[in-house]
Amino acid sequence: MRYAAITGWGMAVPERVLTNADLEKMVETSDEWIVSRTGIRERRVVGPNDSTTSLGAAAARQALERAGITAEELDLIVVATCTPDQFLVSQACLIQAEIGGNAGALDLGAACSGFVYALSQGSVHIRAGEAKNVLVIGVDTLTRFIDWSDRSTSILFGDGAGAVVLQATDEPRGLLSTVLGADGQGHKHLYIPGWGALVPESAELFPEFRPYLQMNGREVFRFAVKAMGDSAAEAVRKAGLDFSDIDMLIPHQANVRIIDAAADRLDLPREKVWVNIDRYGNTSAASIPIALFEAEASGALKEGDNLVFVAFGGGLAWAAGVVRWGTAGVGATDAPA
Ligand code: ACO
Repeated sequence: MRYAAITGWGMAVPERVLTNADLEKMVETSDEWIVSRTGIRERRVVGPNDSTTSLGAAAARQALERAGITAEELDLIVVATCTPDQFLVSQACLIQAEIGGNAGALDLGAACSGFVYALSQGSVHIRAGEAKNVLVIGVDTLTRFIDWSDRSTSILFGDGAGAVVLQATDEPRGLLSTVLGADGQGHKHLYIPGWGALVPESAELFPEFRPYLQMNGREVFRFAVKAMGDSAAEAVRKAGLDFSDIDMLIPHQANVRIIDAAADRLDLPREKVWVNIDRYGNTSAASIPIALFEAEASGALKEGDNLVFVAFGGGLAWAAGVVRWGTAGVGATDAPA
């Protein structure tokens, strides 16, 4: 059987740091409130020289270098983002213009669940024999759509990018199971109005209209706790594993209380849960590949480990997968691409 191993990984975040103390000067909030309710201490925010393209390309270059392949060797680029630099053309083409090559290039919109959706998409192409080398990028710059006077959203989000290279192998590596789901009725709980073909009346009435992220935090929180726990448990079951077989949970970093609830559901001790929300906030589609990058860099991952990726977000959508870490058999496969 053919699998899609993760053979390269990279991340990029803007230089500018926005701390809770900075936010205290902008809105009525406190470091104590933000840390106790979310776990966030600081986040990275794009500056004038940063873009979804620049962050995505930087993470992609690292991932390619680590995998030891060039952009010319890619068959497909899948970019998960809800904040592309422009709608026409795709974000994937804009990043390809930076890194090179002529791979197929497409965007995937599933908000914060986007990276796991994109990993599934890329893996399916490899497992079907349609591709041998796939680049999957999760990148978002949601702070461009934040109303900095709204304390219910301005404290949560940060910007960044993460990328992985998938390569064909005959060994069971990469995604062993996937659970994807969505409840479109929940679209009204988390969205950015007026950034699309449907122009809201307010855009004509107010030429200065800026589309800002709108969120019903309590509703999203309730949904997230259930979706993260249920889908992660289902992914483990689908992979034919027990919770005790899981070596590391790498969850979407939206709120440490949501992460704790997912860990409890899988009976995982905290040392088996990767948390870096304190330094980056919620970077949307980038949060899992950034967490993966840091977990690997810290020496926490070893060949053959079973990882669980799980995410939720706008849609409302959710996604989970069990990933077997390592590169066994890569390059040895003679299955056609
Ligand atoms: N500072 C101080 N007080 C605040 C702040 C703030 N930044 N924000 C809200 N409050 C106040 C509220 O006004 C409220 O006051 P009241 O009791 O006098 O009315 C009180 O704190 C409690 O507010 P809640 O909204 O109930 O606070 P909660 O504990 O639910 O935390 C939060 C809010 C952090 C937003 C939480 O609901 C959450 O994390 N929800 C999930 C959001 C999320 O993950 N979104 C991203 C999805 S991913 C994607 O696709 C982009």
